[in-house]
Amino acid sequence: MLTSNTDMHIARTLQELREHLAPFRKPAFVPTMGNLHEGHLALIAKAKPLGDVTVASIFVNRLQFLPHEDFDTYPRTWDADCAKLEAAGCDVLFAPNERELYPEPQTYKVHPPAELADILEGHFRPGFFVGVSTVVMKLFACVQPRVAVFGKKDYQQLMVIRGMVRQFALPIEIIACETKRAEDGLALSSRNGYLSPAQREEAVQLSVTLQRVAAAVQRGRRDLAALEEEAMEALAHRGWKPDYVTVRRCSDLQPPLDQEPLVVLGAAKLGATRLIDSLEF
Ligand code: PAF
Repeated sequence: MLTSNTDMHIARTLQELREHLAPFRKPAFVPTMGNLHEGHLALIAKAKPLGDVTVASIFVNRLQFLPHEDFDTYPRTWDADCAKLEAAGCDVLFAPNERELYPEPQTYKVHPPAELADILEGHFRPGFFVGVSTVVMKLFACVQPRVAVFGKKDYQQLMVIRGMVRQFALPIEIIACETKRAEDGLALSSRNGYLSPAQREEAVQLSVTLQRVAAAVQRGRRDLAALEEEAMEALAHRGWKPDYVTVRRCSDLQPPLDQEPLVVLGAAKLGATRLIDSLEF
């Protein structure tokens, strides 16, 4: 059960954030872009016992959107987000505006390795992980957390951030949180709000497809390329525009070679809304 916290401090500037966090030794951090749902609140719940202060951020990061993507229309739901964070027991919310986080053009950027960041999401959204890594590095520099929690729905993002923390020797423990799902199995996402009622009903088929692929591999199918193609065709037949459905090894998201922990990842457009999901097995 979540404890409510009516004293959440909102820091709009880096200076205010630093002053407020100065007495704490172990901030536990959850970065978000707002439009919060139960999935984000699960990240807060996971973070809470791991630190001596729980910090969330809300910042819609222009750097991780392509020009044709939904930066301008990305839902900004400030009042509802603050109420949810308070009820979830978040202690500090860092909510800088663009000028505060990027006071000058951000010409220093974090470029994660192509073999991890230019595949899958990075292939279909070029530069996405440069934008994500850069803002997360900057948010880490602002908050200076000892622990940070990321959701497994954005599986590749989690891996990119883990690699960044490891290679830059950042003193931050990255904790993964299981994907929170609606009753029918749809992975919770801020973008689900774009779906019409009919699309919302259909949307669960992405996770159903991933489950079918995982089950087929568990039953012994090894012709992964054919299996992935069938899965994408099945989605396309239902009116989706799939970008990928693919089985990868958990360790580095490369095609599997042998017996090793696997994950099936999928991304597809339903109408104008692009959804992603993943399932470890
Ligand atoms: O997962 C998200 O919401 C964003 O990619 C993140 C990690 C907050 C960076 O903007």
